[in-house]
Amino acid sequence: MRTPPRIAPSILAADFAHLGRDIEAISDHVDLLHVDVMDGHFVPNISLGPPVIASLRGSTDLYLDCHLMISDPLSYLEPIKQAGADGVTVHIEAVPNPNPVAAEARLLALDFGLVVNPPTPISAIEPYVEMASMVVVMSVHPGYGGQSFIADVLPKIEHLREIIDSQALPTDIEVDGGIDLRTVGPAREAGADVFVAGTSVFRADDPVEAVKKLRTILNRE
Ligand code: DX5
Ligand code: ZN
Repeated sequence: MRTPPRIAPSILAADFAHLGRDIEAISDHVDLLHVDVMDGHFVPNISLGPPVIASLRGSTDLYLDCHLMISDPLSYLEPIKQAGADGVTVHIEAVPNPNPVAAEARLLALDFGLVVNPPTPISAIEPYVEMASMVVVMSVHPGYGGQSFIADVLPKIEHLREIIDSQALPTDIEVDGGIDLRTVGPAREAGADVFVAGTSVFRADDPVEAVKKLRTILNRE
């Protein structure tokens, strides 16, 4: 079940001193906003948390897609919801049994999704695809923006697409990391629905033009 492709700029590549300005500049042209939350434990880097999400919520109506690169997502769902998140995605490597986190998300009326790192097979999340509104296939190792797309994950996206389509599930596939004008086409062909792009959008000379070019490729089917 293919949905129209959606573009989710990752604010990790924006200028944190001028986040509102950077988001405002692209907001009419994008579908959702990807917010990378890192705890310095699950990944080596630290990024942002609920206070920044609350500020974002106060300045944009865009869907806030919060990617939780944190070891203990269960403890943080409530403050993240209160801050104004629309959806959370949690790593299967952090919570091998995601049922309690999914249940908490449901209680809080947060969209819930699962993320797989490049070395993690799709079989790790296969039993949970049905309860996920989105599955995120990492196409870089999590923790940093600006890395190169790992093309080896394309067969994983294809496999996930087959699972979702064969069961007619409404689950979206998001691809995260290294998405640019060269990699977005192959990721779409493999079966992704939502495309996270940090560096290629926010570090472009003209971020709106960068989004438009990505969309032109995505609409070329
Ligand atoms: C990596 C993050 C990504 C990253 C994408 O840990 O999950 O969302 O910000 O940025 P680019 O597009 O620069 O790879
Ligand atoms: Zn991310």
